[in-house]
Amino acid sequence: MPDGTSRFSLGSNKLYHYMGTSTFSNFTVLPEIAVAKIREDAPFDKVCYIGCGVTTGIGAVINTAKVDAGAKAIVFGLGGIGLNVIQGLRLAGADMIIGVDINNDKKAWGERFGMTHFVNPKEVGGDLVPHLVNMTKSGADQIGGADYTFDCTGNVTVMRQALESCHRGWGVSVIIGVAGAGQEISTRPFQLVTGRVWKGTAFGGARGRTDVPKIVDWYMEGKIQIDPMITHTMPLGEINKGFTLMHEGKSIRSVVLY
Ligand SMILES: NC(=O)c1ccc[n+]([C@@H]2O[C@H](COP(=O)([O-])OP(=O)(O)OC[C@H]3O[C@@H](n4cnc5c(N)ncnc54)[C@H](O)[C@@H]3O)[C@@H](O)[C@H]2O)c1
Repeated sequence: MPDGTSRFSLGSNKLYHYMGTSTFSNFTVLPEIAVAKIREDAPFDKVCYIGCGVTTGIGAVINTAKVDAGAKAIVFGLGGIGLNVIQGLRLAGADMIIGVDINNDKKAWGERFGMTHFVNPKEVGGDLVPHLVNMTKSGADQIGGADYTFDCTGNVTVMRQALESCHRGWGVSVIIGVAGAGQEISTRPFQLVTGRVWKGTAFGGARGRTDVPKIVDWYMEGKIQIDPMITHTMPLGEINKGFTLMHEGKSIRSVVLY
């Protein structure tokens, strides 16, 4: 709980609320700020994903970056977060959506949600950043760079690449990925002095109480997709299989049904 206490115990042992919510139990105690009321006809086994990944990805585009129609964007890491950034970019009307992932299986996934170009850094002959910047050049713009980039990997080297792939003068780079404890980001200050902006976002800058019900409505109206990203379901007893699939890059999201 926000005050450091717990409402769960097993015998004399204190148990902690998983991710502050303990949604893997039939009954839980939640901080009031963690609760949002959603429409009753929304299927729980699908809209549960709005509790983190969907809202984080779409919110990073709409609330944090405030992407405008016609933008050029690069998304690093096409997992459960990156794919939602892509569908947020499509919703916002971005023209060019470049997806970057070291796993070629993610190309088809990105295309399904609106990605227009795919780059596997392992298959780029030289440096990744100039390669990406070149892709964004157009007749009128020979400097190049994306209007918006998003790190959805949690890798600090990728975070730097994302910033440096932004357009000089106005490019905005949003860090969504959570880096390992103790890791630090770096770049040359010149990258920022010349007008790039480095930002971070938690839960896509969403206001849970009002934005979660709104995104549930978008799903129910068919504006956004969730079902195809739920690649696996399993009973609570097999929850560890869900973690294994995630670590192996074989699932986008697994939902525990109980
Ligand atoms: N800020 C927030 O509120 C928030 C919320 C949820 C998740 N996250 C974080 O977002 C990140 C992504 O989460 P996810 O569920 O999509 O993870 P995921 O494991 O499903 O996806 C990560 C993707 O990045 C790719 N990748 C790994 N290294 C790469 C590299 N060097 N270059 C390019 N691609 C690379 C992987 O192949 C994979 O497709 C995690 O760090 C997670 O902790 C942040």
